Amino acid sequence: MTSPLFLEIARRLRANVDRGLPDQTDAVFRVPARDYRDPALWEREMQSIFLRVPLLVALSCDLPEPGDYCSLDLVGRPLLIVRGDDGRARTFLNICRHRGARLASQPWGHARSFTCPYHSWTYDREGVLVGVPERESFGEPGVDGLIALPSEERAGAIFAMLEPGANLDLDSWLGEMGESLAALRLADLYPYRTTTTLASPNWKLAADGYLDGYHIGYLHRESIGTRAITNRNTYDLLGSHVRVGFAHKRIGEIDTIASDDLALEDHMSLVHYVFPNVSMSGGIGDSLMLSRLFPGPTVDRSTTVQHQYFRQPVEGEMIARAEQKRLVYEQVVRDEDCATVFGIGDNLAAMADRDILFGRNEPANQHLHRQIRALLQD
Ligand code: FES
Ligand SMILES: [Fe+2]
Repeated sequence: MTSPLFLEIARRLRANVDRGLPDQTDAVFRVPARDYRDPALWEREMQSIFLRVPLLVALSCDLPEPGDYCSLDLVGRPLLIVRGDDGRARTFLNICRHRGARLASQPWGHARSFTCPYHSWTYDREGVLVGVPERESFGEPGVDGLIALPSEERAGAIFAMLEPGANLDLDSWLGEMGESLAALRLADLYPYRTTTTLASPNWKLAADGYLDGYHIGYLHRESIGTRAITNRNTYDLLGSHVRVGFAHKRIGEIDTIASDDLALEDHMSLVHYVFPNVSMSGGIGDSLMLSRLFPGPTVDRSTTVQHQYFRQPVEGEMIARAEQKRLVYEQVVRDEDCATVFGIGDNLAAMADRDILFGRNEPANQHLHRQIRALLQD
């Protein structure tokens, strides 16, 4: 079933192709090159953005059953996301309350409970401390469970804030992005558990690449850009987030096919960028790639982790298909996107006081940098 929301984007893409222009802003936008390499500014970005806004930490389908969990480290915070016996997904610091050892060491799994490898303190699926060997030695330790972070599940995705006690208002944070995520039917996906980890430069340089509809037919002309019509994109600025539509060469056919028979993914593609660090590409067909940016450890570095999801479980013959797709995107993003943006990173010092330019045809990048500036000023 084609989502009416995405069908409307297909019509806008066709109109953009007909008029020969993408969605545009009113003015060119400039970002000083030094803003991508200033360690003090980077520290403020971590404090004012990553430690302050809700972050997409997992998809619901990563942990469908009680006891399923994921773990990841984001901006120096080790996270453990667990689905409890009550069906609720919670996010904790992946830190034992005894002396701070790491609890879960695998990126995903299923557990009846979580036992610390060091002295075997044990926590249940809701994070409650349920076992302390030699308990009498601790008297009343004043600790009853893991440190919980504000966390909620919405539209098939799990969000958390990295500061305990922060106020999480997810509906206002997502705004209209919530409706678009719902249309992606994220809860109906199945993960391929082999992920790809790529070195990437400054997180904003990498993010600029995810939001860029302008480069597809140029940088990727020999690879994933062959079926695209470049620079006729739709851009929807949804709260702090962005949805980018990409026209394919077959976009003109959409009116000749009954909407029930329309395989929209043959005619267009979509990127949902969930600010500040998650890009979801696809989802209108039978697969979706989620790319998560991990800033750091220094201003000039980040890591990108790519996750592939499919509409059917990745087992049997699906494994070869999933692996093939994973390898294609590993190669394209490493050899084309990351290589290019690492090159920009190397050039920043020589650019001195000059600016990076974002044209009227780069609304998503302009929006990203406006969001960053607004949060830094708050
Ligand atoms: S640090 Fe976890 S039980 Fe001691
Ligand atoms: Fe790219």
